[in-house]
Amino acid sequence: MPRQLFVTTALPYANAPFHIGHMMEYIQADIWVRFQRMHGSNVHFVCADDAHGAPIMIAAEKAGKTPQQFVADIAAGRKEYLDGFHISFDNWHSTDGPENHLLAQNIYRDLKKNGLIDTRTIEQFFDPDKSMFLPDRFIKGECPKCHAKDQYGDNCEVCGAVYSPTELINPYSALSGATPVLRTSEHFFFKLSDPRCLAFLDQWTQSGAVQPEVLNKIAEWIEPGEDGKPKMGDWDISRDAPYFGIEIPDCPGKYFYVWLDAPIGYLASLQNRFAKLEGDAAKGAAAYESFMADPATEQYHFIGKDIITFHTLFWPAMLHFSGRKTPNAVFVHGFLTINSGEKMSKSRGTGLNPLKYLSLGMNPEWLRYYLATKLTPRNEDIEFSPDDFMARVNSDLIGKYINIASRAAGFISKRFGGKLGAVSPDGAGLLDTLREGQDVIAALYESREYAKALREVMLLADKVNAYVDANKPWELAKKDGMEARLHDVCTVCIEAFRMLTIYLKPVLPALAANVEIFLNSGPLSFGTANGGLPVGHTIGEYQHLMQRVDIKQLDALFEAPAPSAATQSATEIVAPGGEALAPTISIDDFAKVDLRIAAILNCEAVEGSTKLLRLTLDAGEKDEAGQPRMRNVFSGIASAYKPEDLVGKLTVLVANLAPRKMKFGVSEGMVLAASHGDEKSNPGIYILNPWAGAQPGMRIH
Ligand code: 2FM
Ligand code: ZN
Repeated sequence: MPRQLFVTTALPYANAPFHIGHMMEYIQADIWVRFQRMHGSNVHFVCADDAHGAPIMIAAEKAGKTPQQFVADIAAGRKEYLDGFHISFDNWHSTDGPENHLLAQNIYRDLKKNGLIDTRTIEQFFDPDKSMFLPDRFIKGECPKCHAKDQYGDNCEVCGAVYSPTELINPYSALSGATPVLRTSEHFFFKLSDPRCLAFLDQWTQSGAVQPEVLNKIAEWIEPGEDGKPKMGDWDISRDAPYFGIEIPDCPGKYFYVWLDAPIGYLASLQNRFAKLEGDAAKGAAAYESFMADPATEQYHFIGKDIITFHTLFWPAMLHFSGRKTPNAVFVHGFLTINSGEKMSKSRGTGLNPLKYLSLGMNPEWLRYYLATKLTPRNEDIEFSPDDFMARVNSDLIGKYINIASRAAGFISKRFGGKLGAVSPDGAGLLDTLREGQDVIAALYESREYAKALREVMLLADKVNAYVDANKPWELAKKDGMEARLHDVCTVCIEAFRMLTIYLKPVLPALAANVEIFLNSGPLSFGTANGGLPVGHTIGEYQHLMQRVDIKQLDALFEAPAPSAATQSATEIVAPGGEALAPTISIDDFAKVDLRIAAILNCEAVEGSTKLLRLTLDAGEKDEAGQPRMRNVFSGIASAYKPEDLVGKLTVLVANLAPRKMKFGVSEGMVLAASHGDEKSNPGIYILNPWAGAQPGMRIH
């Protein structure tokens, strides 16, 4: 019976395009999946956008979109990356899909039935302007330890202190600038510290489901500490409205915390795949249930090291105590670093931009190959070095592997009508050696030892090249009476090339597809290594299979982005002024924003707010009676300007922004001000001021 596999990568947050950290994970998983498929396994390889949570809700609001539209726009950009790097997901879904809503609610009900859900009243900061509870990351203030300003609510980035947001001095909401107030709310908890959970997790984590180095990391959470208690407490799984998420059954206004429904999205995407396969949601749900109920089904998750606890503690416990299958293994990888430097993970999307890579005409399989030469089954960081990249691709991939075909194919087609010949014992011995490598290489792919697998393949390629150098087909071709030997040697080369291609196919799927056409061999898979192409088999015309990397491409890839924003692709992850460019808009989109010159007639401090100034603006408007119409606008610029600095100045008003009700009154528009995206560097806020001569009411085009 073929193996039945359900494989996922972590679901990316739907608030930004992919960066190289995502691509590395997808490539690692894709190689494994392609290897499994080549072995005849039945694989469902799925992913989805992780759509929910406060940050996405807030980003959507900022972008003037509904969260659904915002997430859909991000999702629309995924294909270019996935197709571009040959990632063979069978399905891409969203955690906001109907399957996930239902599954999350059912899992919750099952946990509740099992006595593992608790409610508690907790005290939390609330933003009175936004009328919402603030996640820790959206509360800022002065560090209680070192007094650094503008620190996040959970820890200080200057001195490293960890605290709760209530300990911040002069806390403010990062959303509105308002001073947050403490409010109580009822929250739901998953009782992970229940002895049943601890016992289960102890057993599950020791079952071989996690790598040994990961086990060491998580042991401290479940094993009793010095006080005899494990560090792992109960998990707060609810959030209050407004929240973009899944409603908790029978509790209006309460939502599941995004991390509860995110991994359930794995199941939802699988169910959605079955619905597509069956052409019907109900049949899909039934097929999904029976697939997951089958003890033969194996479930694997590829994830990064930053989300270990969610996947090795919370997730298996949720599954187990809701009566569901638990993962067979969670495969944790490290981050990708560039030139021993910066982390290239999701939080810092700098470094190697995947779309820029493709737009420079760089072959996606170079990157797949290079990363594979670095990847191990261990949770360790891997390093991208441009020099090493060039050496691995040019010397190994092209120099050792591609060249075998390019050296032999011409003779086969020109001298032997494209037909393969018989192989004499020395060549057969070499081919046997190559065949014998098959099991070792397969076992290395299975255990995700890609670096070792590719080393084995290159050692075999070395042997083939030694054979070519010893037999020198280019000299045989010039000698009389050596026709048969030339045919023999070139046939050995082609057959060797075919076998090496099988071994490389999980890493180089597009190249392998071209080789299959060239060799006229049909689909290559591990089983077919033994057979060999028969005498008299006709191969196709050799077409160049792969270019070498040009140093100029690498230079361009890592070159600092050009200064002109107009020339940037919107998806490039560059951060002028500390903030990545927003997605490209059309001129029509821009025309929707009505920007006007406005005169600041009055400006005053706002009582109860340290952030806001109240501006009275004249944007050249008149009411029905022909009287000048003034605008009242609140602006979060009090840290940068005194009211008297601004009175009498001109600035720019977003004149058609919907009025917004704030604690201090209605804000009728917004004035434009510049600031650095990275508030840590804090070079201040600068209100825009037109050149002399501009008049209130003039439109800015
Ligand atoms: O850390 C992240 O990027 C999360 N969006 C990963 C979620 S994985 C799964 F749980 F959905
Ligand atoms: Zn500090």
